[in-house]
Amino acid sequence: MEAMKILVTGGTGYIGSHTVVELIQSGHEVEILDNLYNSDAGVLLKIAELAGVEPKFYEVDLRDKTALKQVMRDGGYEAVIHFAGLKAVAESVENPLTYYENNVGGTVNLLEAMEEFGVRKLIFSSSATVYGDQEAPFVETMETGRAIANPYGRTKYMIEEIIKDLCKADEGFEATILRYFNPIGAHESGLIGEEPKGIPNNLMPIIMKVATGEMAELLVCGDDYETTDGSAERDYIHVMDLAQGHVAAIAKMQPGVTVYNLGTGRGVSVLEMVKAFEKVSGSPLTYKIVGRRAGDLAVVYADASKAERELGWKATRTVDEAMRDTLKFLGLSARD
Ligand code: NAD
Ligand code: UD1
Repeated sequence: MEAMKILVTGGTGYIGSHTVVELIQSGHEVEILDNLYNSDAGVLLKIAELAGVEPKFYEVDLRDKTALKQVMRDGGYEAVIHFAGLKAVAESVENPLTYYENNVGGTVNLLEAMEEFGVRKLIFSSSATVYGDQEAPFVETMETGRAIANPYGRTKYMIEEIIKDLCKADEGFEATILRYFNPIGAHESGLIGEEPKGIPNNLMPIIMKVATGEMAELLVCGDDYETTDGSAERDYIHVMDLAQGHVAAIAKMQPGVTVYNLGTGRGVSVLEMVKAFEKVSGSPLTYKIVGRRAGDLAVVYADASKAERELGWKATRTVDEAMRDTLKFLGLSARD
């Protein structure tokens, strides 16, 4: 494998930090750009502890074109992995313009800076949300962009289209779009994990808050879906599998746009997640069944076969392992 010098935007965030560890351990040279809006610079020392090297860090906002161009000009990067963005769905409904400015505008600035300084390999963090309300399993060849439930999801779709247009205009540009399903878990060391600022809305961060006593109970949104136990199913992928998916993707870049789902190919229900947590922790998790959450689909999971076929990558870790690593990150003990 060819080692590269890579700029990772959003590299102090949840998925970015785990990916940076794996990239460094695979021999790549990594630098991070982040505005620390939803992360903490303290993670850099933890990355250094795990990977043996502390990545160079630029506290820069993607909306600051001048600062961004300076980083790109001085860096001599061969590739960019672009995680930086806002991701709170409810907030995107309340403040859509902030989401379009930050996610879409920030990405346009990034692409402009890459073009100006001849950096022509990009990996972009997209989401299963671009498939809208179609029936699972989601395959990369399916139409995207219809019935996306919120502005956050639409920023992902729009950015995918912008990247496609750029690749048509600049035939030497190599872009890989990775559509993540539901990332969970933490590094097996327990040193790094998900630390969202503010009140969480996603399932796993809520389970974490109930486990630590910061929240009283989990509200299970809906038990009347057409699934085996009535609760909704998602494709939960261990963040370390996801991180390794990026290492596999960067080794196989090609001109034009290539899209891969990164998921496990399996749906797990909310109640199965509760049971997995209880089994691994040995403690009950307080929950209550409530009505469905607006905009939620019954069943979401990936057809993950393209990434396996073309990248030689597949998710290998279980939900139980993700629960165990999450407990370790929280400083709580697992049953054994
Ligand atoms: P995260 O919030 O932990 O990381 C994103 C990072 O981007 C943060 O450190 C934040 O400070 C930074 N950032 C935001 N706006 C910025 C800006 N304008 N300039 C510079 N830095 C900025 O989120 P994450 O869970 O690690 O997600 C990473 C990427 O993956 C995001 O693009 C997200 O939309 C996407 N994604 C996440 C999930 C998920 O469930 N976590 C699912 C699908 C896709
Ligand atoms: C959500 C977003 C999606 C985004 C993804 C990652 C919506 C509709 N979708 O996906 O666009 O890409 O997060 O940020 O918000 N659940 C409960 N109780 C809760 C919270 C969640 O039962 O308090 C259930 C949900 O109904 C769902 C599952 O847990 O079935 C997972 O929810 P969540 O973690 O929010 O992820 P998604 O909805 O799949």
